[in-house]
Amino acid sequence: MDVRERVQNYYGRRITQNQGCCASKGETGRVGTLEVPTYGCGTPTRFADLQPEETVLDLGSGAGLDCFRAAQAVGETGYVIGVDMTPEMLKRARAGAAQLGLLNVEFREGYIEALPVEPGSVDAILSNCVVNLSTDKTAVLREAYRVLRAGGRLAISDMVRVGDAPARVTDEGWCACEDGAETVAQYQARLQEVGFAGISFTGNAPENGTYSAQIRATKPAIREASPADRQAIEALLEGADLPTDGLGATELLVLEENGTVMGVVGFEPYGEAALLRSLVVAPKGRGGGLAWALLVRALTVLRARGFTVAYVLTTTVPELLLKHGFTELSRDALPEALGASAQLRGAGACPASARAFTKQIV
Ligand SMILES: C[S@@+](CC[C@H](N)C(=O)[O-])C[C@H]1O[C@@H](n2cnc3c(N)ncnc32)[C@H](O)[C@@H]1O
Repeated sequence: MDVRERVQNYYGRRITQNQGCCASKGETGRVGTLEVPTYGCGTPTRFADLQPEETVLDLGSGAGLDCFRAAQAVGETGYVIGVDMTPEMLKRARAGAAQLGLLNVEFREGYIEALPVEPGSVDAILSNCVVNLSTDKTAVLREAYRVLRAGGRLAISDMVRVGDAPARVTDEGWCACEDGAETVAQYQARLQEVGFAGISFTGNAPENGTYSAQIRATKPAIREASPADRQAIEALLEGADLPTDGLGATELLVLEENGTVMGVVGFEPYGEAALLRSLVVAPKGRGGGLAWALLVRALTVLRARGFTVAYVLTTTVPELLLKHGFTELSRDALPEALGASAQLRGAGACPASARAFTKQIV
């Protein structure tokens, strides 16, 4: 039996025997006249900023408490989907929705590592003390990113850890949301890896051990640039002293916030190699991980398009590239084909001080 099956059996038993788990010793939350069992470690509906008409997804919805609260927040014209793998939990949650007469809530059986949800269909994702239970947390966050619409957000309550992971992981410790908890740095790296930005963690951290954190993140609104974006893109590049020569031969992605182009990244194709360029974020958008997210998206696009290697010439973002797994190489070692790029020749070429980086992307 793998860990996921053990977690499923554990929570199946807890709900049928009306027992709590770990910190929540049989606790319930009230919705209307109904007392709903909760196994959570926070109240994500409190910081998710849910709005009428939104579509909300709850990862690991348990007996449905957060879904019922979300259903009240989004109203009759909104919609709430709870996903859980444990049949006994789903049964209890569906019964609760029926008792409350909620027509805008649906509970789906499934794994949070492979969500039964359409891409780009959700405004906000909640989760309450569940991601720590997964043995493939990156898959969970990648799935969350896939199903969120551009500009959508995460509001997660979860256990995180200060200090080392336990020397001995036990079934009981894992199922009780302790042994699978990771540090803020580990969690944040996973969120960044799949492309989230605006990441924050709050909570009362102890000196050592686990605690419940509120985790927020956004899926940046990144799309292919259109001719109408050209002026905004040139303004961003000029503002950062980056060349605008050769933009005609460049495929561009833009990052938008509230209708304003806040960032851009582009690439020029040279056979199986792509020359990444023009990575910039407007000064007022800096510091929230948007450049990182643009780079993640550019590499995802390149991978999907069959490129095998990326190159970059930069004076501005060497640390970002190194953190992203790029390695530096001598400019003389760049493939000859890249010599055709305006980045490498002519008056608009990158200065001699620009350093070259590369990354395999298969
Ligand atoms: C600690 S309980 C939290 C339940 C609920 N969020 C709450 O606050 O009461 C964990 C829930 O996540 C579900 N779960 C755990 N791992 C899962 C996975 N990999 N896929 C789907 N559901 C999962 C369990 O079945 C259980 O209902």
